[in-house]
Amino acid sequence: MKAVYRTEYTDFSAISIKELPIPEPKSDEVQIKVLACSVNRTDLAVLTGWPWIMRLFVGWPRPRNPIPGTDFTGKVTKVGNLVSDFEEGEMVWGMKDNGIGSHAEYFCTKAFNHIQKLPADLDPIIAAACIEGAHYAINFINKLDLQPEDRALVIGGTGGIGSAAIQLLKAKRIHVTAVSLGQADRVKALGADRVIDGSKENFLECGEQFHAILDSVGKSRFTICRPLLFPKGSYLSSELGPNWENIFLSLITPILSKKKVIFPIPQDLQGSLSLMSELLLKKQFNPLIDRVISLAEIQEAYSYVSQGKKIGNVIVKMDPEI
Ligand SMILES: NC(=O)c1ccc[n+]([C@@H]2O[C@H](COP(=O)([O-])OP(=O)(O)OC[C@H]3O[C@@H](n4cnc5c(N)ncnc54)[C@H](OP(=O)(O)O)[C@@H]3O)[C@@H](O)[C@H]2O)c1
Repeated sequence: MKAVYRTEYTDFSAISIKELPIPEPKSDEVQIKVLACSVNRTDLAVLTGWPWIMRLFVGWPRPRNPIPGTDFTGKVTKVGNLVSDFEEGEMVWGMKDNGIGSHAEYFCTKAFNHIQKLPADLDPIIAAACIEGAHYAINFINKLDLQPEDRALVIGGTGGIGSAAIQLLKAKRIHVTAVSLGQADRVKALGADRVIDGSKENFLECGEQFHAILDSVGKSRFTICRPLLFPKGSYLSSELGPNWENIFLSLITPILSKKKVIFPIPQDLQGSLSLMSELLLKKQFNPLIDRVISLAEIQEAYSYVSQGKKIGNVIVKMDPEI
């Protein structure tokens, strides 16, 4: 099988595509043939071991798994003799944010936590664009107590997380104002009620107040956004912030201030996948896809994703026959 391979923490310029034996599942594992996966910002953290804290989870001093890749849609091709929840031939999807080795034609994983059955009606490419960004967006929103008609500001409306967050907030009937840099039409099409073009307008002067601010690209700071929050409003960012201030602020603002910072640590992948299955089957979610590439183009895709300029999701079509 072909797989992306590296043995040290490295940037995308040093990865190679290797021919490796197809891995055999242990008794509690399933072997999965990857149909599609994404190249996302979490993959970059797994690849480069940056921020350093990633290395506590991905391996020290070098990566435990030489094959990167965090999410996938695929087909079960073999099951270990202790596995009873999955059968050969079933479609599955999943994610592990410290790496599952899905940037390969096949990989093996334990048959729990990180995988779920994928409804047969769903397109594996579309579904692959509804995993990483959507899971983080769901975790943002689940930390908030928003009611229909409440107002939210999404900074970074074209990102993987931001584009999912807009649609998920609209599904909860939240009024959404989104900030985008020059992609107003695409963000409007996701359902945002108002789009601020950050390249022409300063969102801090938007004249609105919000129950929640979701900075999905980690480019703002609580102290700057604070005046835009209603009393008891919440600020969430996908990044740690300068000097990891968002962790510190998430501990002290709930005690010292009415307006608080929440740091969303992602959890409950099964809940996220179940919600996305439901929304996709009801055609209530339409992921933003920047491009679909082949495995041979993955190095360029890593380079592109590292620039922080992708529009939604970059998908690798691993099986050319789907
Ligand atoms: N906390 C976690 O567990 C976690 C997990 C995954 C990712 N992250 C972090 O979350 C962030 C977002 O990830 P992602 O995958 O959603 O990002 P992404 O898809 O790479 O976001 C890129 C998009 O954001 C837009 N953008 C960049 N800066 C912007 C700004 N100041 N205002 C408005 N739009 C802006 C870009 O538009 P232009 O092309 O117009 O600039 C581009 O369309 C990353 O910083 C990533 O490291 C955190």
